[in-house]
Amino acid sequence: MSSPLILVNLKTYKEGMGARAHAIATAAQMVAQESGVTIGIAPSYIDLHPLAHHFMIPVYAQHVDGTEPGAHTGQITAHAIKTAGASGSLINHSERRLSLADIEDSVRALKAQKLIAVICSNNERTSAGAAALEPDYVAIEPPELIGSGVSVSKANPEIIRRSVAAVHAVNKNVKVLTGAGIQSGECVKIAIDLGTDGVLLASSVVKAPEPAVILRDLVSKL
Ligand code: G3P
Repeated sequence: MSSPLILVNLKTYKEGMGARAHAIATAAQMVAQESGVTIGIAPSYIDLHPLAHHFMIPVYAQHVDGTEPGAHTGQITAHAIKTAGASGSLINHSERRLSLADIEDSVRALKAQKLIAVICSNNERTSAGAAALEPDYVAIEPPELIGSGVSVSKANPEIIRRSVAAVHAVNKNVKVLTGAGIQSGECVKIAIDLGTDGVLLASSVVKAPEPAVILRDLVSKL
């Protein structure tokens, strides 16, 4: 099995911008080096290029459009994020939902640039649908638990188990992440034991006074 992925989404939190984004990336790189666990970061577009160039950890976009480069305005192309140094992108996050056709276009655009596609989903049925589009990862996040401080691993482990089964029934090569309220090594261990390949999280790290303390806890049981 490959190393689990801990992917930290900085969202548009004030605590995840600019110098603070650099501080979180510094902590993530330090803990990744100490533990050998892959820790990625998904900053705002504005911070993507500097973080990708200053740090060795994988940097993801929070969203990507399927649009080709050219005469379009305000679109985020896969080519643009690749040029900025991204390793991949989230698609269809609960806070940035897309149509099914748009999701497919975004996955295709990422694959054309050899970037990692992480489609977010909200339950086992949409996870199965996402898997049919052949992304690298499906990330299952029950929306009601996002930012709640209540961990999906503890509040709804069944949805993780069912989503892993639903994704693998469609395509065994698609890896599964889970997220919402993830905050400790115990949450991560439960998720991994239920068959996921890692976690997607935000507030517990982004809002922490010392992100390295939470990151060390997150990897402590792997
Ligand atoms: O993208 C991760 C996210 O939606 C989960 O957020 O704050 O519950 O870890 P949080």
